[in-house]
Amino acid sequence: MTITRRHALHLSLGALATMGACAQHKLQARDPGDSDSQRKNIKIDETTFLKEVATNRGLIYGSVGRYPDLTTDEEFADLFAQECTMLVNGNALKWKYVHPQPDRYDFAKGDELAAFARNNGMLFRGHTLIWSQALPNWFREQANRKNAEQLMTEHVQSVVKHYAGQMHSWDVANECVFPGHERNDGLRKSIWLRLLGKDYIELAFRAAAEADPQALLVYNDNRMHSDTEDGEATRTAVLKLLERLLAKGTPVHALGMQAHLWAKDEMPLNPQKITAFVREVADLGLKIVVSEMDVKDKHLPTDTQERDRLIADAYRTYLDAVLQEPAVTTVVTWGISDRYSWRNKPKFGGNRPDGTLVRPLPRDRDLQRKPAWYAIAQAFNNAPAR
Ligand code: G3I
Repeated sequence: MTITRRHALHLSLGALATMGACAQHKLQARDPGDSDSQRKNIKIDETTFLKEVATNRGLIYGSVGRYPDLTTDEEFADLFAQECTMLVNGNALKWKYVHPQPDRYDFAKGDELAAFARNNGMLFRGHTLIWSQALPNWFREQANRKNAEQLMTEHVQSVVKHYAGQMHSWDVANECVFPGHERNDGLRKSIWLRLLGKDYIELAFRAAAEADPQALLVYNDNRMHSDTEDGEATRTAVLKLLERLLAKGTPVHALGMQAHLWAKDEMPLNPQKITAFVREVADLGLKIVVSEMDVKDKHLPTDTQERDRLIADAYRTYLDAVLQEPAVTTVVTWGISDRYSWRNKPKFGGNRPDGTLVRPLPRDRDLQRKPAWYAIAQAFNNAPAR
């Protein structure tokens, strides 16, 4: 993709933001004289980008960006580079796509995304090494208790080594907790648990750390946000998993909280419980990444203004609650525009009963800012400086 003059301008902005972010990632001590009062609020209007407001508070803001969207839609790609400090690959580095055959890896799409991040002065975040979904058929057919450890270790090391030195962070293991399966340890009864037992998660982190000692290694999961029985059980089980991993010296550095929120009429949020939970995670010495934030609006009213208000409220409530905790260093939305949300697909809730299109993200299909965008920007401005 050619770099236009406007791009060159963003490159310098992006490089500044990334240097700031890298400094944050490398956890270098901040200048003691740099206090909250000296970090004035960023003026929020139609010329502001979320990257600016986040960086001003020492936060990283990013989004998932998928291979065809960023490499074919120039208007969208330009905006993405202006808005985000960080790019998270979409599906390109999931096992099914990056390791389609036992003896073949396909890094082409991941490499294009890595180049996009590099050319735009952005951080690159890898998603995801070990998950019970998006596995290729050959794995499900060939993996067994005898070869699973070798298959996993080789996969993790091959993929992580390929991007070693380029990755801000990796989602090493994804969605391993599921209280509904009623195990004492709260783990999901997945193919990985069946093949390797509960230590598969530790194995994955150790393999990743050996392959790229620089990357921040993240345990990523969902459903920790809701004020429901499942939310409470998930928070408890995730804490138990993190404590067990850390007690064994596992190189896990951060928790990824996906935050696929539902607007308040479907799934209540309790800010106090959310703030208390991230505090407990921080007390373990871990950083926290809000890793896939968006708002499901499938059953919200048809009226766009009312719907956008409820969606913005969900973003505001959640971010105000988590950003109280300085260990929350990064906020990633699962897209920046409704134009490319995963939620557009019927199987992911795209078929609203009233037939209207979903509106889960900060910007609309025409890339215009919505109330959700302003709610995120304001939450960044309200956050204590990192
Ligand atoms: O690209 C192919 C297309 O060629 C083909 O015609 C079509 C047929 O269905 O499939 C397309 O691939 C789809 C891919 O998204 C790209 O759109 C896959 O079927 C579909 O399963 C895949 O869904 C992804 C889903 O994870 C499963 O991997 C979503 O895009 C992605 O947003 C979603 O993200 C997950 C995170 O990885 C983990 N946390 C939950 C989150 C939401 O489910």
